Amino acid sequence: MEFFFFNVVRLCFAGLIGSLALFSATVQAKNVVDLSSQKWTLSSSVLNISVPGHVPSQVHLDLFDARVTGDPYYGLNDFNLRWVAWNDWNYTAKLAGLKGSNDTKTFLLFNGLDTFADIFLCGQTVASTANQFRQYSFDVTDTLSSCNATAPELRILFHSATAATSALANLPGQETWPSGVEVVLEFSNRQFMRKQQSDFGWDWGPGFAPCGIWQPAWTVQLEPEEVHVRNTLIDLYRVGQLNNLRPDQTKDWVLNASIDVVGTLPTSAKMVYSIKDASSSVVVGSGELVNITNRGDVISGTAILDASKYKLWWPQGLGGQNLYNVTINVTSESGKTLASSTKRTGFRTVLLYMGEVTPEEIAKGVAPGGHWHFEINGHPFYAKGSNFIPPDAFWPRVTESKIRQLISAAVKGRQNMLRVWASGAYSPDFMYDIADEYGLLLWSEFEFSDSLYPVDADYLENVRQEAHYNVRRVNHHPSLAIWAGGNELENLELLLVNTTGADQYEKYKSEFETLFIGVLGTAVFSNSRSITYMPSSTNNGYLVLNHTAPLPMIERYQDVPDGTIYGNTDYYNYAASQAFNISAYPIGRFSVEFGFHSMPSLASLSNVVPADDLLAFNSTTIMLRNHHYSPRGLRTENFANTSKGMGEMTMAVEAHYPIPNKTSPTANLTAWIYATQVFQADFYKWQISFYRVGSGRPENQMGCLYWQLEDVWQAPTWAGIEYEGRWKMLHHVAADIYNNVIVVPLWNVTSGELQVWVVSDLWSPVQGQVELIWVNWEGDWLESKTLPFTVGGLNGTVVQTTNLTGTFGPNGTMNASEALFVARVTATGTPVGDYATRTMRHTNYWTPTPLASAALVDPGLTVTWDAAHEEFVVEATKGVSMWTWLSTAVDDDVVVNFEDNGFMLLKGELRHISYSVIKPGRDGWRDRVTVRSIWNQTLAT
Ligand SMILES: *[C@@H]1O[C@H](CO)[C@@H](O)[C@H](O)[C@H]1NC(C)=O
Ligand SMILES: *[C@@H]1O[C@H](CO)[C@@H](O)[C@H](O)[C@H]1NC(C)=O
Ligand SMILES: *[C@@H]1O[C@H](CO)[C@@H](O)[C@H](O)[C@H]1NC(C)=O
Ligand SMILES: *[C@@H]1O[C@H](CO)[C@@H](O)[C@H](O)[C@H]1NC(C)=O
Ligand SMILES: *[C@@H]1O[C@H](CO)[C@@H](O)[C@H](O)[C@H]1NC(C)=O
Repeated sequence: MEFFFFNVVRLCFAGLIGSLALFSATVQAKNVVDLSSQKWTLSSSVLNISVPGHVPSQVHLDLFDARVTGDPYYGLNDFNLRWVAWNDWNYTAKLAGLKGSNDTKTFLLFNGLDTFADIFLCGQTVASTANQFRQYSFDVTDTLSSCNATAPELRILFHSATAATSALANLPGQETWPSGVEVVLEFSNRQFMRKQQSDFGWDWGPGFAPCGIWQPAWTVQLEPEEVHVRNTLIDLYRVGQLNNLRPDQTKDWVLNASIDVVGTLPTSAKMVYSIKDASSSVVVGSGELVNITNRGDVISGTAILDASKYKLWWPQGLGGQNLYNVTINVTSESGKTLASSTKRTGFRTVLLYMGEVTPEEIAKGVAPGGHWHFEINGHPFYAKGSNFIPPDAFWPRVTESKIRQLISAAVKGRQNMLRVWASGAYSPDFMYDIADEYGLLLWSEFEFSDSLYPVDADYLENVRQEAHYNVRRVNHHPSLAIWAGGNELENLELLLVNTTGADQYEKYKSEFETLFIGVLGTAVFSNSRSITYMPSSTNNGYLVLNHTAPLPMIERYQDVPDGTIYGNTDYYNYAASQAFNISAYPIGRFSVEFGFHSMPSLASLSNVVPADDLLAFNSTTIMLRNHHYSPRGLRTENFANTSKGMGEMTMAVEAHYPIPNKTSPTANLTAWIYATQVFQADFYKWQISFYRVGSGRPENQMGCLYWQLEDVWQAPTWAGIEYEGRWKMLHHVAADIYNNVIVVPLWNVTSGELQVWVVSDLWSPVQGQVELIWVNWEGDWLESKTLPFTVGGLNGTVVQTTNLTGTFGPNGTMNASEALFVARVTATGTPVGDYATRTMRHTNYWTPTPLASAALVDPGLTVTWDAAHEEFVVEATKGVSMWTWLSTAVDDDVVVNFEDNGFMLLKGELRHISYSVIKPGRDGWRDRVTVRSIWNQTLAT
């Protein structure tokens, strides 16, 4: 709840400072009361429950707070607490702090009600709402005037979302879709609600279907001529710029500002701006906005800004994160400040470029078709990152510090982009603020996923309001990279209906266009000229773009001629045998999703799994917390689904690594957890390598976002960062393969060729040498050579191609089980944004057999704590150590991330490793840190 408080304080503060500092002091009679300060009661008359309530909060959190229930995350409580979702709940407060005379107007302002809510004030109906993502303001002046209580009662009745959606689905004449189009997780009918879709369950998390006043809320009292700012749009774009098209980088900037207020602005109102360097306070520009339009509750104006005065904002790794504070004041004719709003922003253009590949580019080797890559300030760049899901099933407990931790982890992982997956919630402002500071781009989406959606007039209007509000709310953030209509709609859902017949396809395609192009595309294009819009996370680009048409774009859909490449890819393949077969991977311009699940650490599990059930990989609680595949709400019959996902992890481990079989149950479970994390990291590393190599091949592959950055809870999932903040093997290994310059031994199982690539995502060429070494597991060098290379900007080059057919056969020169191929690159170049030349190194390897059949030896690993240097020292004293892994003792209850983990050590290599503490634990934990490698999997203890 901390973060909301922060936001509220900042908002009020900004308004006050603006009016005091820039203009002569005026007495503000405006009375804004934060509803979090009221004494709330949460109750159900049906269940005879009455406990203290909170704002912002949700019913599950308040019930847990009052100890009516246990921790929703513990054990199988996601199933046990279904009754909370199926009931209606009242939040009630007697409103203190209202003031005013007969001229006072009183409003209720809600930044978010989750979701099916009836609002009553003083026993009278105010409104009913049905959209978690909208901001609502209601004029309750008349209601209050007929209410003679000194502290009138505000009551918000939240209807069960599961019951409400079921009722909507059963309305006469309600729309239906072919079976299978709606991907059902724990509860059905989620397409009828404008509520976080994953609240009804997802394959990586629980389905609680919570409700409550989940965002800040206020009473706002205004005297005549007073207004209250409720939302601010700032759009910065180059003169002449239009969405989805390349802007002219030599042009000046246009500032378009638009302010939404509660109350009514006089028609004579004017707007002025002032822009300060966000770190130095120096005012860089100021003036009057022109071309004012004033609707009373919305006022807008524009100004041209001299581009030479403003430094550009860049994502991390590509330049600095220069930020500016823009203050907009709305003034009366006499110069009195009526409204003031300050937003921190940055000057950048960001574009998803989908233009056709030109004949010149084809002549240079790019495959014909369409581009599909991002450009920052006119420069194409390689997008490296992952997918972000809700960091908690209950947003009100997502703190600013939690988001800061995740964003800094992504940046430490060398990621420059997160895709904020559609069907969580629109990201809070503080998340964009932190991303602006760290230089992490946020690919943002409207909350629609894996379903088709209704298109009746009420539904469309509800969505339009939601999109309008959120587009305006976040547009000023330079980290905002794009708006997408939703997740897996075009290349999945529409393809599904396509199989049910052409006439059906046309109908559903037209509905798709109405909602995802007509309503959402227009919501973006009518508010912003700086941001690209595309209707679906995966797509093949557009055929026609017309910013002012009712349907501003016509999609290419499946119209992809042979021999051309359009669009991006997602890829999930749970067949263990195909994991390292690069011929099975998709070839596209950009990879937006791919992955495989793994187990979280024993330390994470021990927080939520009862000790007596924490003894086996397939224990009841662990299995039932695995929602791949979704249990579909059936607690006792869902082993059939969940065991498939557990089986996939098991088969992947068994196919590729030594199979753990330890005598102690805890040691065995620990070894299995480690093995699933090794497989996950290994698989992602191969795919990321393959996609990055694609930057030097005809597909001109320009981005890679794996599924998924972080966990929503403690369970087997695709995450690289666990719920408590611990990094899995994946996060470390992804950080390694996201280095600017990498070496990749790319094995093609079909051709028998091993190609060694050097790939660079820097903008200027780099050169250096690659050392290629064959070693055995004892660490003896069998062969080695050194080759020079040069690789161009954003490109890859083949350093060596070897056909290994026969090398390991009966007449071959090496024994496959005893050989390891190691490639080490040393490159010199100029990283983007740095001026000094730098030496960069990267090491990679390949084994001719899976480690399952390699003749592993004891690497003689040691770990020591070097207190003087505050670091751990790890050494392989006797042989090669694969998947070297440091971990803290479970009982120490400490959350620590080592700077480096999950790496290979050749014999005699040692590594100094620093760390950061996320959550302190028992004293002396450093002395109990242990290290293991894949060799430990072969041991009985
Ligand atoms: C909510 O409060 C109203 C007014 O007291 C009452 O009639 C209704 O039954 C309550 N509903 C629930 C679910 O508690
Ligand atoms: C408000 O109006 C009522 C009747 O219209 C009047 O009796 C009362 O004095 C007024 N109060 C104030 C504070 O103006
Ligand atoms: C006003 O208050 C009186 C006394 O408390 C009560 O009898 C009456 O019903 C109230 N009127 C309204 C409209 O609430
Ligand atoms: C700019 O805004 C940010 C965020 O609101 C604030 O922290 C910072 O102090 C501001 N800088 C100046 C110079 O006002
Ligand atoms: C204001 O509107 C006029 C007429 O449409 C236009 O020529 C001018 O460029 C606009 N000025 C700004 C700063 O947008």
